Amino acid sequence: MVSQRIKDQLKEETAKIKAQGIIPGLAVIIVGNNPASRSYVNSKKKACELIGYYSREYALPEETTEEELKALVQELNQDDQIHGILVQLPLPKHINEEMVINTIIPEKDVDAFHPANVGKIMIGNFDFLPCTPAGIMELIKESEIDLEGKHCVIIGRSNIVGKPMSMLLLHKNATVTICHSKTKNLKEVCKEADVLVVAVGRPQMVDASYIKEGAVVIDVGINRLSDGRLVGDVDFDSAEKVAGAITPVPGGVGPMTIATLMKNTLTAALKK
Ligand code: GUN
Repeated sequence: MVSQRIKDQLKEETAKIKAQGIIPGLAVIIVGNNPASRSYVNSKKKACELIGYYSREYALPEETTEEELKALVQELNQDDQIHGILVQLPLPKHINEEMVINTIIPEKDVDAFHPANVGKIMIGNFDFLPCTPAGIMELIKESEIDLEGKHCVIIGRSNIVGKPMSMLLLHKNATVTICHSKTKNLKEVCKEADVLVVAVGRPQMVDASYIKEGAVVIDVGINRLSDGRLVGDVDFDSAEKVAGAITPVPGGVGPMTIATLMKNTLTAALKK
């Protein structure tokens, strides 16, 4: 698996810089009891252990105030053991996510969510790549898919996936369309796609009828059904009959997001 290879590489590099006295450190903050967030945070911690990073988790109660959370981030901004700060989203409704993200210093913003980092991504000269979009680009590269001139359609315009994804594809000379909940003729637009990236958060919404024969389908969704099964935003069994290539859920994009986060943490430590 690509993600495993990246983690193995990072492990090797980490062993080398540890010999020089640098231990990459990641602080992960989770607020409240969102089960999906808990599962992501556990995976991030596990990856740190595997690679040999120092990691620290802050599991804060649901009723944490914005001021308390900001104070913790400010403390971590100054903490020399910590090179990357990750605040798991979504945050409880009473906390302004934007305010919290803006509090993380850009040098430790391993999610690349801070406006300074978002701006750099837009320009194409960045320190950190946004984790999920960069993970997807790595999968595309690994599959030797040439993006130049291709029509890439993204469903979803979030700051975490849709918007930064469009920029990374654009930097590779793709023609990019971003669709969202107000898009007219969604199915017809998707059927034009050579590469379809689905990040809507609706279980199995996209089936074969959205997909052009031979298209590359990238499923960013992770949804838990009432029977406990994990499924993507794409109906895999239907879609794989027409797609030229398709990422599974679980095991497709998710592990790549974590691999990029680990890469960014090493980058942050080396820059320091
Ligand atoms: N919630 C869903 N995806 C992400 C991510 O990549 N980073 C953070 N911090 N929160 C998320």
